[in-house]
Amino acid sequence: MSAIIAIDDDRAMAAWVQDWTARHGARRDQLLPLLQAMQRHYGHIADHVVPTVARALNISRADVHGVVTFYHDLRRVPPGRHVVKLCRAESCQARGGAAIDRLAAQRLGVAMGATRDDGAVTLEPVYCLGLCAIGPNALVDGRPVARIDAAALERIAVEVGA
Ligand code: FES
Repeated sequence: MSAIIAIDDDRAMAAWVQDWTARHGARRDQLLPLLQAMQRHYGHIADHVVPTVARALNISRADVHGVVTFYHDLRRVPPGRHVVKLCRAESCQARGGAAIDRLAAQRLGVAMGATRDDGAVTLEPVYCLGLCAIGPNALVDGRPVARIDAAALERIAVEVGA
């Protein structure tokens, strides 16, 4: 049964890649925009679609794999239902970011860079949100949250169902 789903997913993603390249161009310089669009559409970039993308843009699988694995924001597996990102750049770290990281991992029940087993939340680092003066900062499902402290973390945990 799962093999059938995988084939369907593969065909659907291949069709999506064909459609996208028909509209935006099948050139090497479209690799990153294509991957970003695919992630917006599917939530992640499955490993099995790498050869399809490589063929569509006439580049090597290694080229595609290299870009997918280089950029932190590109996901190879689906994220949790909620995504909490904590800023690990210098200003937020100077404002207690490391302690917030530890507290978040404990309260949300998931290690940094991982997704909880129940799929409720993914916890990830992010490197500067441009809100340095009011850190430590987070992104909760894409929404910036400033001045993260224990109380703010508790509100986030309740919001994401952790
Ligand atoms: S260092 Fe965290 S927002 Fe800039």
